[in-house]
Amino acid sequence: MAKRIIIVGAGFAGLMSALAAKRLINITLQQTPEPAEDIEVAVIAPDDKLVVRPRLYEENVAAMSAPLFELFKTTGVRFVQGSVESINVENQQVTVNAAGLRSTLSYDRLILAAGGDNVLPAGVPGLKEHTFAVDHLERAVQLEAHLKNLPSIQATSARNTVVVCGGGYTGLELAAELPGRLAKITGFEAKTRVIVIERAHVVGPDLPSSMRPLVLKTLNRLGVEVKLNTAITGIDAGGVTTSTGERIETLTPIWTAGTVAAPLTRQIPGDKDRFGRLMVDAHLRCPQAKTIYAAGDTACARTDEGDDDDLNTVASEAQYTKMSCQHAMPMGRYAGHNAAADLLGLPALRYSQVMLGTVLDLGRDDAIFAAGSGDEAVVALSGAAAKPLKRWINETLIYPPGADDLAGALEAGNPVNRTVVPAGLGC
Ligand SMILES: Cc1cc2nc3c(=O)[nH]c(=O)nc-3n(C[C@H](O)[C@H](O)[C@H](O)COP(=O)(O)OP(=O)(O)OC[C@H]3O[C@@H](n4cnc5c(N)ncnc54)[C@H](O)[C@@H]3O)c2cc1C
Ligand SMILES: *[C@@H]1O[C@H](CO)[C@@H](O)[C@H](O)[C@H]1NC(C)=O
Ligand SMILES: *[C@@H]1O[C@H](CO)[C@@H](O)[C@H](O)[C@H]1NC(C)=O
Repeated sequence: MAKRIIIVGAGFAGLMSALAAKRLINITLQQTPEPAEDIEVAVIAPDDKLVVRPRLYEENVAAMSAPLFELFKTTGVRFVQGSVESINVENQQVTVNAAGLRSTLSYDRLILAAGGDNVLPAGVPGLKEHTFAVDHLERAVQLEAHLKNLPSIQATSARNTVVVCGGGYTGLELAAELPGRLAKITGFEAKTRVIVIERAHVVGPDLPSSMRPLVLKTLNRLGVEVKLNTAITGIDAGGVTTSTGERIETLTPIWTAGTVAAPLTRQIPGDKDRFGRLMVDAHLRCPQAKTIYAAGDTACARTDEGDDDDLNTVASEAQYTKMSCQHAMPMGRYAGHNAAADLLGLPALRYSQVMLGTVLDLGRDDAIFAAGSGDEAVVALSGAAAKPLKRWINETLIYPPGADDLAGALEAGNPVNRTVVPAGLGC
């Protein structure tokens, strides 16, 4: 009987899971040409393309995805188009909805890599109806169409103001990009206000503190206004109101605050963190559902040398994965490798994270790179000097490998011994 590994999601974690599982199966086949059983690797997702989420606030956003059809064909990954509606942990089955048609698929091992979504906090009236977002391709396309339509709207302060709700990583990159983009679209740069509203007392509360002064300086130079210690309390068709009682007229409020794990995580038993992510062990396996692994934005793993069995006693000094491509890609490789290893009777690998650092794009001319993690991270490159690194990340590193080279594609799934940064990028 053939066995099956099902991967839910074709994002950064899901793609790498599939390549890693295929790689290990391929290596094993080379050593034992007549295996006891076949293992099928199947990816289930709504589309066979990788949406390049970090680039969803750039222009021509509809093009920010990479096709996976050929790559899956070359590597022998089965692609099942559809959305997983439910996971039956006991029977090891998933229900797939493909354009209204439901079917059931069984798995021997499941890798949940369904990503995350923006959270729209309850209690802010108008949020759902009136905000734009850049967390999904369709929503980013809507925003771009709206921005392009601005010049045809009567000039008012509402038209000429964009409010970025949330001054975290995404909000800051978006805010720095907007003045240049708006100028190109509308030609009224001088009259356009871009305002970032952040609840915390600093910009980028999750960024290394060493980055913040430079971020502020750049935003200032770009004319972006920042309001700290301020929460959005209401949104309507003409503007936003804030916790300080201020009303800001805008036709373009963009919500960027907060991401939570995909709702499928709730169907899997075991602890979740405050973002709804499954707490996984050092092999990225769910402790209470041993046939299930999780990777990327749906999973929370320790990145330090934590005790595998110590997930419940959340050590205050412990380091955990972040919702980022930098974590999702290696997590995917380890989860795919370990799911296949488990079926092949091979030892699992302990997940470990090579941290490059934090790289923030700040508009046309600037970027910042802080090496290391947490508050010990130091700014290593900034301004134009950080651009080649950011360009390599967002134009090469996070894209799928070529479909014409099987060996190269399988090697992209190798969890260990990865080269970090090519020479010549300044770090
Ligand atoms: C605007 C923006 C900017 C960002 N910038 C950066 C950055 O600069 N650097 C960085 O490291 N990270 C960045 N991130 C975060 C990064 O994009 C995510 O952490 C990363 O995409 C997570 O990868 P993933 O594979 O877990 O999820 P995703 O890439 O979101 O992939 C999830 C996949 O699951 C599929 N899926 C979802 N539900 C189902 C279902 N029920 N059934 C089947 N398939 C399903 C989706 O269609 C998709 O294929 C940014 C995110 C955003 C939104
Ligand atoms: C990707 O990098 C290039 C070069 O730094 C930049 O122009 C572009 O805006 C970046 N996009 C993102 C999403 O970082
Ligand atoms: C394994 O991969 C190699 C390329 O690295 C390829 O030549 C070979 O045909 C693959 N084997 C199988 C069984 O897919």
